[in-house]
Amino acid sequence: MSPLISQDLYCIGLTISLQTKLRMESFLKPFVVTLFVLVVVLGDVSLVTMGKIGKHKNTYIVHMAKSEMPTSFNHPAVWYKSVLESVSNSAEILYTYDNTIHGFSCRLTHEEAELLRSKGEILKVSPEKIYKTLTTRTPHFLGLDKIGDMFPESNGGSDVIIGVLDTGVWPESKSFDDKDLGPIPRTWKGKCESAVDFNASNCNKKLIGARFYGKGYEATIAPISGIKSPRDMDGHGSHTASTAAGSAVEGASIFGFASGTARGMASRARLAVYKVCWGFSCATSDILAAMDAAISDNVNVISLSIGGGVREFHRDFIAIGSFAAIEKGIIVSCSAGNSGPTPSSLNNIAPWMITVGAGTIDRDFPSYVSLGNGKIYPGMSLYSGNSLPHTPLPFIDAQKASYNVSSYGFSKAYLDPEKVKGKIVLVRGFHSSIAKGFDVKSAGGVGMVYGEVEELREKQGAQLQFLPTSMVEFNATDAMVQYLSSDPKPTATIVSEGTKFGLKPSPVVAVFSSRGPNPITPEILKPDLIAPGVNILAAWTRSNGPTDYREEDRRVDFNILSGTSMSCPHVSGITALIKSVHPNWSPAAIRSALMTTAYSTYSNGQKLIDSSTGKSSTPFDIGAGHVNPVVAFNPGLVYDLTPNDYLDFLCALNYTPEMIEVVARRKYSCDAHKHYSVADLNYPSFGVVYKLAENANHTLVVEHTRTLTNVGDAGTYNVSVTSDIPSVKITVKPNMLSFDRNEKKSYTVTFTASGPPPSSGFGFGRLEWSNGKNIVGSPISIIFKTSRKTKNS
Ligand SMILES: *[C@@H]1O[C@H](CO)[C@@H](O)[C@H](O)[C@H]1NC(C)=O
Ligand SMILES: *[C@@H]1O[C@H](CO)[C@@H](O)[C@H](O)[C@H]1NC(C)=O
Ligand SMILES: *[C@@H]1O[C@H](CO)[C@@H](O)[C@H](O)[C@H]1NC(C)=O
Ligand SMILES: *[C@@H]1O[C@H](CO)[C@@H](O)[C@H](O)[C@H]1NC(C)=O
Ligand SMILES: *[C@@H]1O[C@H](CO)[C@@H](O)[C@H](O)[C@H]1NC(C)=O
Repeated sequence: MSPLISQDLYCIGLTISLQTKLRMESFLKPFVVTLFVLVVVLGDVSLVTMGKIGKHKNTYIVHMAKSEMPTSFNHPAVWYKSVLESVSNSAEILYTYDNTIHGFSCRLTHEEAELLRSKGEILKVSPEKIYKTLTTRTPHFLGLDKIGDMFPESNGGSDVIIGVLDTGVWPESKSFDDKDLGPIPRTWKGKCESAVDFNASNCNKKLIGARFYGKGYEATIAPISGIKSPRDMDGHGSHTASTAAGSAVEGASIFGFASGTARGMASRARLAVYKVCWGFSCATSDILAAMDAAISDNVNVISLSIGGGVREFHRDFIAIGSFAAIEKGIIVSCSAGNSGPTPSSLNNIAPWMITVGAGTIDRDFPSYVSLGNGKIYPGMSLYSGNSLPHTPLPFIDAQKASYNVSSYGFSKAYLDPEKVKGKIVLVRGFHSSIAKGFDVKSAGGVGMVYGEVEELREKQGAQLQFLPTSMVEFNATDAMVQYLSSDPKPTATIVSEGTKFGLKPSPVVAVFSSRGPNPITPEILKPDLIAPGVNILAAWTRSNGPTDYREEDRRVDFNILSGTSMSCPHVSGITALIKSVHPNWSPAAIRSALMTTAYSTYSNGQKLIDSSTGKSSTPFDIGAGHVNPVVAFNPGLVYDLTPNDYLDFLCALNYTPEMIEVVARRKYSCDAHKHYSVADLNYPSFGVVYKLAENANHTLVVEHTRTLTNVGDAGTYNVSVTSDIPSVKITVKPNMLSFDRNEKKSYTVTFTASGPPPSSGFGFGRLEWSNGKNIVGSPISIIFKTSRKTKNS
């Protein structure tokens, strides 16, 4: 870590206050003169240019080739500044980065960015991207006591620090109480920033750090109108942080409807909160600055419930920052995304990150709509008040009930109470059905049939409604619109069947959970695994209500949300527990333990169900399966990886030296004589890709090599393989491995395809090593690709 220049100083430089200056002076004795001059200079530059940003400036992240730094510069920051000044005399540096990349972010015109790009010492100039928090906000009032029981209480975790990058924290929540916790781990190097409405004293032995990063957001999106501090004004960050490591809170409830003990997965782990999202938006320059700090601060786990689409690894700042983190032994656990069930909808898929999809718990809210023409349409709803009588009521299309016809949405202002009063209203919408329900109710409607405008079933999950509602499928909406326009006196009945438990096995894959195959490297199966992500109760902010509805004025201490935003911190917390028991395990070994012990079937042997189809899930939905924390502590064998293994993987992808340097922050030369294969990355799963020439008819052979490390007792393991593609023969050599303690052994899997590929173009299987006690399982996905042009764009 560089003590001289870090983004903190720039941060202070931009918001110079006497107090912070004085604190720094006494703090940094010998360097103080140089340091202080530099800070003031940079601070002044920044202050002078602030507010004078040209109309056409954008935020860019500039990667410097540190190896090119002339010796005349004694510090990278001075060099960065001089390079920047050579293209712009007014550019504002937002952050410099020390750990995640060598470089800085700044505001530039397009022309200035192009000038920078042309310079030899610049590796890459990337425009700012905006990421989002990954929640489908789904409050409801049922079954709130499950989380604590689903996972065993662990006394571990108290030496482990989880860094959560999100919307901040509500420090007064009981989930961040530090009772019974020992002193803060001595490894901790971070801090609790004082800011508006947030004091350093808001931190304690549970919440040990809190920082905020908003310069990128302000430069690109909008000035931050609210509180500029680590304080959580949204709720999402408090929810994810407390899911990962919240202290146990007895009697947690929402409106007193349910009560139970809410606790994080690692209820004794420490939390360091980095606020990078303002509302739902998170700028990459801010995320990178927070990751940079988290690495310096010595967190052990980074939890990222943030996503922003998929990019090649050298263009993906979360991937780049994560690589720096895993090099330091920091585990990075991320949301897979909420874009399911669309295939290849994953984000956060670099092989050095843990990619977590979401599973649901077994709870259903069936309802149906029966129309005057006798047709019945299934739906779902969650409404805790009195239901409608089971007699037909007048039914109207919202678009015909508004003063103004608008294509999709409407608001209360547009709904005509004269037309809506006493009726069931058909609404189509993109977003919150809660808000639509409020509107219908306040215009005098008695019920709502809500159809999503896209064919994305149950996209929003169950939403707690404010009037009797049935959420129906896209195609049902069309049929209803037709009925409404053809029948002069249309009627409808909404029948809720209430809450049903145990109808289906649990867990099932959440509809919204993003799916494979991996859009960048199909040879690396993603997601890695799934974890609970539906209807999760956790801490909330007092500054925002439990729903997104704009007129929401309720305040709660706990809220229920759904999303891969929720499943990610479950895994983050579980990795912290494993880390506390096995402090020397690498991030890859811990991920391996989670994956090889995950379950992909119910206890009766049937495969986990995908709720988007009602059929068996595949590894594209669940990766290795559902997290199984108890078993993960003792996996028997692990597939380990070092940072250089990942760079060899980039060599196998034919990354150029510059692309690799962008990820690795150092030169790494791929050996021209070595054969690199993506299939040889020692990943705990197998992604087989056959590239078929059109009309070809030959036998295809793909080999994967793996190395297992024994982390359990000495013993002999036998392999077994199952697959659903008879035309692919899978052989493992050797098929028996004997291990001494800590011994490593390698094996090769040969996938031989002959005959026609399956019509779907893919198939699945599973490989298991067993010593009769531990089962070390790996999912297999096999993709048949008919090659057209081989080069990617
Ligand atoms: C911060 O500390 C000051 C002085 O001790 C106090 O007046 C203020 O209420 C505190 N603010 C918060 C948010 O705790
Ligand atoms: C119709 O919509 C416009 C805005 O699109 C609004 O200004 C107007 O007041 C609306 N009319 C009524 C009757 O609400
Ligand atoms: C809508 O689609 C589902 C699934 O594709 C199908 O089962 C259902 O019958 C369809 N409903 C209508 C009204 O077409
Ligand atoms: C393709 O393989 C099948 C089975 O091996 C064989 O019967 C068939 O004649 C082959 N077709 C061509 C075009 O070679
Ligand atoms: C492994 O296979 C050998 C030979 O078939 C057998 O003797 C042994 O019991 C097997 N071990 C386990 C743990 O299944």
